[in-house]
Amino acid sequence: MRVLLVGGGAREHALGEAIARSPAELVVLSPNENPGLAAIATHAYRGALEEPGPIVDVARARAVDLAVIGPEAALEAGVADALRGVGVPVFGPSREAARIESSKRYCRELLERHGIPASPRWVSATTPEEVDRAVQQIGSPFVVKPVSLTSGKGVLVQGSDFATPEEGATLAKRLLVSEGGARGGLLVEEKLEGEEFSLMAFVADGAVYPMPAVQDYKRALEGGLGPNTGGMGSYSQRDHLLPFLSEAQHQVAVNVLRSTARALASDGVSFRGVLYGGFMLTAAGPKLVEFNARFGDPESLNAITLYEPGNFAELLLDIANGRVSGSGPLFRLRATVVKYAVPVGYGVAPQVGAVVEYDPVAIERAGVHLLFGSVSPAGPARVRFGSSRGLALVGEASAIWEAGERVEEALKALKGPFYVRHDIATREDLTRRVEHMRQLLAPGARPSPLPLSVASPTAPATSHANAAQVV
Ligand code: AMP
Ligand code: GLY
Repeated sequence: MRVLLVGGGAREHALGEAIARSPAELVVLSPNENPGLAAIATHAYRGALEEPGPIVDVARARAVDLAVIGPEAALEAGVADALRGVGVPVFGPSREAARIESSKRYCRELLERHGIPASPRWVSATTPEEVDRAVQQIGSPFVVKPVSLTSGKGVLVQGSDFATPEEGATLAKRLLVSEGGARGGLLVEEKLEGEEFSLMAFVADGAVYPMPAVQDYKRALEGGLGPNTGGMGSYSQRDHLLPFLSEAQHQVAVNVLRSTARALASDGVSFRGVLYGGFMLTAAGPKLVEFNARFGDPESLNAITLYEPGNFAELLLDIANGRVSGSGPLFRLRATVVKYAVPVGYGVAPQVGAVVEYDPVAIERAGVHLLFGSVSPAGPARVRFGSSRGLALVGEASAIWEAGERVEEALKALKGPFYVRHDIATREDLTRRVEHMRQLLAPGARPSPLPLSVASPTAPATSHANAAQVV
């Protein structure tokens, strides 16, 4: 089988490896020269993600049997539609189906129309007057988000990004008029309190196969501080649940994915690819923060690492043809941790062009896998960072904290100016998250007025014995 993979980040590097191992011949089209993909592709093309024409030309020239689309920008640009138009089976939804990610209003309306009770209270606003009304209607604390795609970076949360409702309203109005800020308007939503988790599933027109649950660390800096990013790292637990997520709560989230896949199918919208729910586990159970119409990054690195060494390309082809074929378990029972090395200043003002050296032997000795993100080659075992996430280190073990320690060991093999969140998946961090949920669920508990991000990183009453039980 010959597969065209669109995209050039670490998510695509992980996908490309699994496709090449299937085995299948890998053709890549990406905006950057990803050294990891270059090493495994038989043909690598440079091109823009948002231009369907040249992507279709490559698919035809190489006579591919399947196209796999990584980034949302390509989905929103209609790349999947253009490829299907010339008869290529595509893993990735049409532009219409991808609206579940590209329009947050469409997403909320779909759930409402089909009676899927997973949304916080929300109101949309397209004018300054509507912003004032929406803020009044939702009340404090609230969240402001552009309706259109922002790579998780345009959302403003009360308590972390602004303090008072007046300040939030002012920022929202500014967003409404800023160039590229809020094309299509804003949503004002009730702020959900709890622990976030990601649940991705393979979806083929109403059929759903869930992947292991993952927790992503969205804030740029240690302690959950700084702006929201695409994700600085992530972990998954051996049993595919999370330290704070019970089987019953997990099932609620799976049911939201199932109901949504059915809702799309009953609306006549074909969805073939990954449906990714970003959830908040609240005192009232899992609520949906957003849907994405693609593999998460870094979450896909956790999931693909655990994919049983079966034929990944066949699985993706089946989904592209409208079938989810996996009858047995697709994912191994192991814990995984991903940490991204990013440019200094990532999320605010990234230092572009830094050269980072890595020692592949030392990384392998630590039992860790290296994946290349937004980098270009800069000589043997050296890469030049772009403005986004550069190198991903993936560790695997039976306990989360152990996988995290492996990644920490491997990080010593990177030299150069970069930033990494060392607090991801430490025992202290995991214990704090379990404790946070315990507090929220305690009888008579009132939502904490403090976001988790301002809790002291050293204060939580943790004991390693305690942490060992939960991870
Ligand atoms: P989104 O682009 O919708 O994924 O939002 C990015 C981040 O903003 C999420 O991962 C959450 O951390 C936060 N967020 C978005 N909506 C809400 C909400 N209603 N309540 C609390 N946090 C939210
Ligand atoms: N890690 C968040 C995302 O892929 O959107």
